[in-house]
Amino acid sequence: MILVTGGAGFIGANFVLDWLAATGEPVVNLDKLTYAGNLGNLASLSGDDRHVFVRGDIGDRDRVDGLLREYRPRAIVNFAAETHVDRSIHGPAAFIETNVVGTFNLLDATRAWWAALAQAERDEFRFLHVSTDEVYGSLDAGAPGFSEVTPFAPNSPYSASKAAADHLVRAYRHTYGLPTLTTNCSNNYGPRQFPEKLIPLMIVNAIGGKPLPVYGDGLNVRDWLYVGDHCSAIRAVLAGGVPGETYNVGGNAEMANIDVVRSICEVLSEADPDTDYAALVTYVTDRPGHDRRYAIDAGKIRRELGWEPAETFASGLRQTVRWYLGNADWLASVSSKDYQKWISLQYA
Ligand code: NAD
Ligand code: DAU
Repeated sequence: MILVTGGAGFIGANFVLDWLAATGEPVVNLDKLTYAGNLGNLASLSGDDRHVFVRGDIGDRDRVDGLLREYRPRAIVNFAAETHVDRSIHGPAAFIETNVVGTFNLLDATRAWWAALAQAERDEFRFLHVSTDEVYGSLDAGAPGFSEVTPFAPNSPYSASKAAADHLVRAYRHTYGLPTLTTNCSNNYGPRQFPEKLIPLMIVNAIGGKPLPVYGDGLNVRDWLYVGDHCSAIRAVLAGGVPGETYNVGGNAEMANIDVVRSICEVLSEADPDTDYAALVTYVTDRPGHDRRYAIDAGKIRRELGWEPAETFASGLRQTVRWYLGNADWLASVSSKDYQKWISLQYA
């Protein structure tokens, strides 16, 4: 079996569902269930004994040691993290705690356990760390996309904490020989994403007739990756990636934020032509230190592992909007008091 951390969050839950459907191999899922973790994301696995959920913290050494001893996973996929850039600006401490100290703890527990395995098991074991393109900083217009050798230049507390974790993963490979793999991917979107991030926030606000808050001039660029394509990339890296290597994953879909928001409005208007969703667009104060542009050069994973995204931005966005329109119960379940508090704090 494999151990997945953060598997109740957006990408982790999509990965667990995708993994079980694609491989059938059992999963132990360690998740702290922060505000971003939601067991409703995994409701379809209720009663499925291939999925074992454990509530816990990657920073809890005893808990991680115990899980490794009990389940003897052949691989670990580490999604667990604090992930929202705006929250890292309001309160960076939790990002250091989970993304840096937590990842260190997971790595160190894994190293100790892995070092005692028989040689054949040690050779087959993989520790896959899921990271972000934000570690590379911000690109000028027209500059080539981030490659695996682009120097790190993180700009937010979130991206700095992820960069620190990536360095620890690298050091555990270099110093101890732990068979690590790192993926650095671009902005994900798709079903089950918590509505604090751009695409789900805009869908949810538009459905509710609320303003669509675009930061700054709306011309910041992101490279959008459908979450299902991210899941297939992680499967490809786990199966064929070379230990010690990093792989950049992107969706070949660079878009300015305002165009993303307009596309959402267009898709919503198809179902409801009488509502002028675009009239809800409201330009608001920019995010401090806002990175201007991210873009990924995904040439390495394409050449070496034969991976390419299956969805275009248009097809992925249509599926995403349809999912949010069809899952009002899920939306109600995440629209808690805490969520409203966050929205008031951030958009007051
Ligand atoms: P998310 O915020 O939706 O989910 C994070 C999950 O981790 C939650 O279920 C949460 O409960 C869990 N968690 C947090 N702290 C934990 C801890 N200490 N111990 C155990 N579990 C903990 O995040 P996501 O968007 O699914 O991102 C998953 C991973 O992918 C993160 O490492 C993130 O940095 C990376 N990533 C995300 C994106 C994106 O666009 N969402 C892009 C690139 C990389
Ligand atoms: O690039 C990968 C990263 O993408 C991940 O590592 C992060 O975990 C993930 O949160 C995401 O970071 P971003 O900051 O790019 O994503 P976010 O959805 O917060 O914002 C996307 C863009 O939209 C960004 O330029 C800021 C802008 N934005 C965002 C929000 C929430 C707005 O204009 N208005 C908003 O209300």
